[in-house]
Amino acid sequence: MEFQAKELFAKHDVPGAPGIVATTPAEARAAAEKLGVCVVKAQVKAGGRGKAGGVKLAKTPDEAEEHATAILGMEIKGLTVHRVLIAPAATIEEEYYFSFLLDRSNRQYLCIASIEGGVEIEEVAETNPDAIKQIPINAGTGVDEAKAREIVAETGFPEALTEQAVTTVLNLWKTFVEEDATLVEVNPLARLAGDKLEALDGKVSLDENAEFRHEDHAAFEDKDAADPLEAKAKAKGLNYVKLDGEVGIIGNGAGLVMSTLDVVAYAGEAHGGVKPANFLDIGGGANAQVMADGLDVILNDEQVKSVFVNVFGGITACDEVANGIKGALEILGDAATKPLVVRLDGNNVDKGRAILEELNHPLVTTVDTMDGAADKAAELANA
Ligand SMILES: Nc1ncnc2c1ncn2[C@@H]1O[C@H](COP(=O)(O)OP(=O)(O)OP(=O)(O)O)[C@@H](O)[C@H]1O
Ligand SMILES: [Mg+2]
Repeated sequence: MEFQAKELFAKHDVPGAPGIVATTPAEARAAAEKLGVCVVKAQVKAGGRGKAGGVKLAKTPDEAEEHATAILGMEIKGLTVHRVLIAPAATIEEEYYFSFLLDRSNRQYLCIASIEGGVEIEEVAETNPDAIKQIPINAGTGVDEAKAREIVAETGFPEALTEQAVTTVLNLWKTFVEEDATLVEVNPLARLAGDKLEALDGKVSLDENAEFRHEDHAAFEDKDAADPLEAKAKAKGLNYVKLDGEVGIIGNGAGLVMSTLDVVAYAGEAHGGVKPANFLDIGGGANAQVMADGLDVILNDEQVKSVFVNVFGGITACDEVANGIKGALEILGDAATKPLVVRLDGNNVDKGRAILEELNHPLVTTVDTMDGAADKAAELANA
């Protein structure tokens, strides 16, 4: 989020006022009393906040309180605003766009910059693409002073700002490298009255693979935005992603689960358009506890109407999985309320199916094929 990006900018000497974060209108007022004329800015992980009405100028503390009341709780691109940043209002003369990012397809870094920045940058990209410069950066050599000068010249920063721009480019590069970021974006990087260059906005994406060397990055996690089911699954060590459908999915192996989502979405077309409700890979050791944890998460998803358990027995044989399902239903007891369609195949499939047959649980239907089971699960979800 912007306020977090600005913390990182401050750490690496990128100029710009950090501002004050507020979670209530009263806090916003108090911040405005300290800062004077200010801007109240929605803090969500999305661009285009200004256009959505999430960035408002406040001349007085009263106005700051009013704007905060309107902006807190607002939805921007599906994200609820839980906090606002109160930033001192700047007198802007020009707005530039600047970013460093990882260019995966070309195996290099890329600088994208334009002297026509601001909230219309997408529009500029469409109508005047030449105004947006793309400068490749060799991953081995990175950005040194000479490269920074090349970037500044190519972008076309005004003469009066050259030295500040070079320093800022170097410090943004330092932010990018030292924080292990995959994106550092400033829009606008603004020319203020008196020819001062400042970052008025910021967006940073951090590479989770580098978490181990950045203990301080854990504090950036947005706990409010985390889906409660995803949080519960994470706490239980499950590989779960909430989706927007009605058929709960449990499978073993990411590839099988991905195909299961496709097959269910396809089967759903014949059953009222029902869709998969989640991704859940319970991995190799599908014992009773893991199965119970998975079912527990899925059954607590109010949208879920049926559950499809799709397991291919490999190292974990089908009989173990069947016993896992049996155990899970015992653990869950009355909490298990939705029909389960189970498809088992692979190692020890006969034993596995026999266990479920003997169990003869009113909620469990077994189907031998993946397509058939997907169809049954979709039908039950649409019933
Ligand atoms: N501190 C400030 N003082 C004055 N104007 C500001 C300030 N912060 C932002 N603005 C104005 O509001 C516009 C939108 O704010 P900002 O860029 O922070 O949010 P955004 O709309 O989410 O950005 P983007 O379009 O990059 O996604 C800026 O382009 C700038 O013109
Ligand atoms: Mg912006």
